This record gives sequence, structure tokens and C-alpha cells, in this order.
Amino acid sequence: MSHLLTTEDLSLTDFQKFTELASFFENHQKDSETTSGILRGKTILQLFLEDSTRTKISFELAAKRLGANVLHFSISQSSLNKGESLKDTILTLNQYHPDTWIIRAPRSGTCHLLTQWTKSPIVSAGDGQYQHPTQGLLDCWTLLNHLPSIKGKKIVLLGDILHSRVARSQIPLLNKLGAKITLCGPYTLLPKSAAEWEVHVEPVLEKAVAGADAIFCFRLQKERMTSALIPSQQEFHRIWGLTKKKHHDLCPQAWILHPGPVNWGVELGFDMEDHPKSLILEQVRRGLYMRMAVLARVLGKDPLV
Ligand code: NCD
Repeated sequence: MSHLLTTEDLSLTDFQKFTELASFFENHQKDSETTSGILRGKTILQLFLEDSTRTKISFELAAKRLGANVLHFSISQSSLNKGESLKDTILTLNQYHPDTWIIRAPRSGTCHLLTQWTKSPIVSAGDGQYQHPTQGLLDCWTLLNHLPSIKGKKIVLLGDILHSRVARSQIPLLNKLGAKITLCGPYTLLPKSAAEWEVHVEPVLEKAVAGADAIFCFRLQKERMTSALIPSQQEFHRIWGLTKKKHHDLCPQAWILHPGPVNWGVELGFDMEDHPKSLILEQVRRGLYMRMAVLARVLGKDPLV
């Protein structure tokens, strides 16, 4: 494989290869002899132009578990603050010969742009509101561990879909897996382009989640909003927030997923913390193994091939 910038061009076979390898790493988590030599001698450069907790830490741990050297570039301590351009930054860092770049950027399209200035593969760790492919992969893998087949299952994406790169990465995979997808949220937070995504759009939560098999929740991504798109956070919670009661009354079998960070009391009620159907911490845990799989495959070092 070369870059991993989007899930749109991944086939079902690609997805299966990622999940098989992620499962392999999960099963060998205590076996450092098997894993720690896979990327020995490789240098991985993490370029994060935007805040991150779980994605950054799990990529770093994934690279280290596979034996790679990891370098960090964080915007607050870099010469980007002294007026250096992004292009000059990349050309400068190229001189240290990174074998792979892991990039998170606030502006959509940055990862594609950077492919022009480096020959090494780029793995997107979140690209504006465009894509977040490793999150889409790990979310679908997590769900498949609880719903052995997603074919024909009702999967709801709830909340701020308009600004969600995670939703844009999940949808192509869920479609390939045969899910029946419903998008739900205020009209102002549902993208116009949804019409091209092979999804059903239902802004009324009670109708959207009735009988759902899984619900992927999304926070209000205010840092990407250019104007006020909802009357208030309280109104959003009242109408589109998922609470224990709504879950119990409308879709008690539904698994609850969220890429994090969660704003409790907004997209999910406080009474949903520690809910038995919540897979939120499992997503975090599985993110490590999926990112190990992505790094090994992007660097041509898949031990199962
Ligand atoms: C997401 C992101 O950064 O896009 N979080 C993540 O990577 N786990 C979702 C979000 O910020 O809401």
C-alpha cells in the first residue's frame, strides 16, 4: 500500500486484511518478540497540526510496539510559528528521511497536498472535515466484534455529521459491509452531499433510532463551525441527545459508539456513562491494534502476507 488518506478507495478485501492483522496484534499483545521487530530501523514522523489525545497516543504506542523510532512535530514548538511555510517544513523534515508520516491537520486536503512534497507514505490521522480513515477502520472493526455481520443492520449516525471526518470515513466502509445507514441530527448539521452517500436521512431522533442495531454518536465540532448552527447546546441535547431512557424505550439492543472526545450532557446523557451497551472505551483500546496494522501494511511489513 502507499498512502492511507481515505476509506473511499478501500475494497472489502483491504478492510478484511486490516481487521485480520489488527486481530493478530491484539492476540499477540503480550508477545513482544513477535511484534517488536516488525518495524525495526524505520522512522515514523508524527506531524500534528491540531490537538489530539487518543489518536496521537495510540499511533505512537503502535509504532513503538512494532519497534520503530518515532519523531514528533507539534505546531506550538515549531518554526511554523516563525512564519515558515508548510511546504518548507516538509522539505526540511524530509532531510531526516522519515519512512512514514502520520499527519493530522485542521484544514481539509492538507494530507493530499503533502503527498506532493515527500516520497514516503502518508497516513492521515484526521484531515480537516474530510477523512479520518484509521478511526473509520477501528470503529467498524469494533462493531463487527459485537455484530458478526453488519449486512442489513440498521446503523444510525447521530449528531454533527456535517463537520465529521469520522462519519465520512465510516460511511464508505459501512456501505461496503452492507449496512442500512441512517443519518440523524438537526438539518443544519446534515451535509447536503448526503444525498450521494447511499444513506437514509431522518432528522427526528425517535424515528431514526427506533430498532437500531448500533448508533455512532458525534459531538458538536464547534472548532469547525463558521457560524452558530444550532439554537443552543441545551436544545440540541433535549432533541438529539441520546439518554438512557431514549435508548431503553427505542432501541435497547443498540450498541453505542463514539470516536471521542465525548461531551457528556450534550450528544450523550450523563446517564449513558458506563452504559452496558457502550463500546466507547473498547474503541479506544482497539485503536492501538488497528493502528499497528495500518503502519505495518503501509510500510510493506504485514507479517501475515
Ligand atoms: C475525532 C476527530 O478528531 O476527528 N476524534 C478522534 O480522533 N478520536 C472526533 C472528534 O474530534 O469529535
